[in-house]
Amino acid sequence: MTGAGDIDRGRSEAGLVEAGLRELLDSLHPIGRHPVTGGYRRYAWTPADRECRDWFHRQARTRSLAYQVDRNGNQWAWWGEPRAGSVVTGSHLDSVPDGGAFDGPLGVVSSFVAIDLLRSRDIGPTRSVAVTNFADEEGARFGVACAGSRLLTGALDPDRASGLTDADGITMAEAMRTAGHDPDRLGRDEEALARIGAFVELHIEQGRAMVDLDGQPAVAVASAIWPHGRWRFDFAGRADHAGTTRLADRRDPMLPYARTVLAARAEADKRDCVATFGRLRVEPNGTNAIPSLVTAWLDARGPDAADVEALVAAVSDGSTAEVTRESWTPAVDFDRALRERLVRAVARYAGAVDAGGGAAAVPVLPTGAGHDAGILAAEVPTGMLFVRNPTGVSHSPAEHTELADCAAGVEALAAVVEELACR
Ligand code: GLV
Ligand code: MN
Ligand code: MN
Repeated sequence: MTGAGDIDRGRSEAGLVEAGLRELLDSLHPIGRHPVTGGYRRYAWTPADRECRDWFHRQARTRSLAYQVDRNGNQWAWWGEPRAGSVVTGSHLDSVPDGGAFDGPLGVVSSFVAIDLLRSRDIGPTRSVAVTNFADEEGARFGVACAGSRLLTGALDPDRASGLTDADGITMAEAMRTAGHDPDRLGRDEEALARIGAFVELHIEQGRAMVDLDGQPAVAVASAIWPHGRWRFDFAGRADHAGTTRLADRRDPMLPYARTVLAARAEADKRDCVATFGRLRVEPNGTNAIPSLVTAWLDARGPDAADVEALVAAVSDGSTAEVTRESWTPAVDFDRALRERLVRAVARYAGAVDAGGGAAAVPVLPTGAGHDAGILAAEVPTGMLFVRNPTGVSHSPAEHTELADCAAGVEALAAVVEELACR
C-alpha cells in the first residue's frame, strides 16, 4: 500500500529529477546554438564540441566520477572503478547542422541525473557504471556517422578516418590535433570495449511511432535499427555562362541531379524505404554560372537491407553520376535478453506490470535512426530507451520533448541501471 510518506518522497524525487534535468539542459543550451536559426551546430572537434566536452568533464568532476578519454576521443565518467563488464549508458553531444537540443544530449543528461537519483535513494552500484559521450556521432563534419564508436569497435579503419576531410579540406586527424586529441592512437580499443558489459542509450524518439500508439506512452524500448547507408553522387558537367550558352550546348549537371532526386523518391516509395538527398555541393556555385560539378549525398534506409540496396542500385543505374558508398550500417536487432530486462525494469518503474507479471504496456519499437548503440551491438549486449516526442520532428531546431516525459525517461533509466548494476 502507498502511504503518505511514499507520496511525499515520490513528489520530492520528481522535483529533484525535473530540477536536475532543467539545470543540465539549461547549461548546455547556449553551446553552439545559432543565434538566428536557434539550431545547434556542434560539429566534431570544433570549439563548440570542445565546450560540450568540457561540460561533460565538469559534470563528472562535480559528481566525483572518475573521468577518462579513450583512444578514439570518447569520454567516460565512472560511478565505481573503471573495470571490465561494467554497465554503460550515455549518448552523444555533437549535432547535425541546425540540430535540436535533445538528439544526443538527452541521453547524456539523463544518465547523470539517473545516477543523482539513485544516489539520493542511497542505492550504489555493485557493478561499475559509466556515462559516455561518444565522439562525432552525427558525422556532420567528416561524413561518417558514429565515428567514435566505429573506431572503438574497429568498424572504421583509423587511416580512413584520419584522412576524412571536412568542407574546408581539413582532415579529421588535423581537427583532432587542433582540439588536443592525438589521432595517432585511433583504432579498435580492446580495453575500452572489455569495460562495456552492457550499453543502454536513452534517446528522444525521432518519429511519430510513440504518439501514434494507444495511450501515447512516455517511454518505449527499442527492438531494432533499420539498415542504412550514405552514398556520394558526383555529377560532372562543364562550367559556362548562364546567359550566353544556348540550352542545346550546355552540359549542366544540375539536370541529371534533379532527375536522380525524383528517382530516389520513387524507388524508395516502391519498396517502403526512405531516401533523402539532404546535402549538396555545387561548383563553382554562382547564380550566373552553369555548374562544372554537382556532388550530392544520398541517405537511404528501410526495414529490409536487400530493399535498400535495390533502391540504391536502381537510382545509381538510372543516373549519370559516379557513385561512391561512404558508409553502410547493417540491420541491428538489439540483444533479446537485455531487451526483456529493460522492458521489465521500465514496467516496474511505470507500474505497468500486468496480472501475469508481464509488461505488456511497455511498447517495443524499431527505428530508422542510427545510433552508437547500433554500432556497439555487434560487440556487446546493447539496448535503447526512447522518450516520447510530441511532434516527431528531429534533426531540426523544432525538435521538442516535454520535461515531464524527460523525467519519466530518467526514472526508467534509473530503474534499468538499478536492475543491471545495483542488485
Ligand atoms: C543519426 O541521427 C542518424 O540517424 O542519421
Ligand atoms: Mn541524430
Ligand atoms: Mn542521436
